[in-house]
Amino acid sequence: MESKIKRIAINTGGGDAPGLNAVIRAVVLAAEEQGWEVFGIERSYDGLFEDGGVYRLDRSTVRGITHMGGTILGTTNRGNPLRWPVTRPDGTVAYEDRSQAVIDALKDHGIDALVAIGGDGSLTIAHALFQQGLKVVGVPKTIDNDLAATNLTFGFQTAVETATDAIDRLHSTAQAHERVMVIELMGRNAGWIALYSGVAGTADVILIPEIPYDMDEVCEKIDARYHMGRRGFAIVVVAEGAYPKGGKPHFERKAGGQIRLGGVAEEVALEIFTRTGRETRSLVLGHLQRGGGPNAYDRLLSLRFGAAAVKLIRDGGFGCMVALDPPNVLAVPLGQAISRIKTVPLDSDVVDTARSLGICLGD
Ligand code: F6P
Repeated sequence: MESKIKRIAINTGGGDAPGLNAVIRAVVLAAEEQGWEVFGIERSYDGLFEDGGVYRLDRSTVRGITHMGGTILGTTNRGNPLRWPVTRPDGTVAYEDRSQAVIDALKDHGIDALVAIGGDGSLTIAHALFQQGLKVVGVPKTIDNDLAATNLTFGFQTAVETATDAIDRLHSTAQAHERVMVIELMGRNAGWIALYSGVAGTADVILIPEIPYDMDEVCEKIDARYHMGRRGFAIVVVAEGAYPKGGKPHFERKAGGQIRLGGVAEEVALEIFTRTGRETRSLVLGHLQRGGGPNAYDRLLSLRFGAAAVKLIRDGGFGCMVALDPPNVLAVPLGQAISRIKTVPLDSDVVDTARSLGICLGD
């Protein structure tokens, strides 16, 4: 059966992740193989409402971008079209559903289908647009790896590599000063980055949101670590969403007023110093985990996802997301992907490995 698709659009939404450009390139090349035209929308859906915010992407515009970090289309984690902020004459802000305007704008541009690359927020928007009749397929992106229905999201492996490198570097300075170093890693309410890089980087303590921590256990481990060698030191990895038993995750107000998870490393460091008297420093690795180009694994995964998204459109698999089910890439309903946050299972092999190696998980 001949596909009715002639023109597709692509956008990138939410926080950036290494591999976005590789997905864009794969979508453009695979779509050209189908004889389709591809258009890029700037900054998620914002470009639809701006002059020049929707433009043609072809083979030449995606040349040499596979290894590049960020996204050539730009992205934003503000301006959800389902809850679009509108300032009233009196200065107060109201929110309106702009999804029909998005669908109309895509129609005006002659777009037959959309490839939405994003995490749970962007894919929730894509799912709502699909329910209102838009032909859309999703590609799972986030360094946090917290999307359900896919074994991995692209960007995660690169973030783990960056975090592991940072933990490796902390070892020498921790050892030189015989200090406790506490490093805070991203991941929102899931501990994937902290657990994977913490084990790979041979941390002494790893605290993740899935296991509320007990400072008695943490300090006991640190003391034991100091008694192991002549010049003791300890490395503590904390996921930004980790919290103490009976407590709550720590939030901070960022410049501009946005409230974000953060600050738990300093809280843990202070507690360690107060209880053990050991010199302790904390740091937040922050957006370095999102920056830079994708590693080889994420490049390949991104290219596979991009190519699979085009096949999904060709086969009429709208309302679905491409997903990794090793060794295959397959399609899953968007509704399934956004149904819950995928956290680290407590019976997972990596949790078990950490425990077998004597790493303290705070419980
Ligand atoms: O979801 C990706 C992520 O980097 C989280 O790990 C982190 O909590 C959040 O985004 C940070 O958001 P922002 O880019 O708004 O600072």
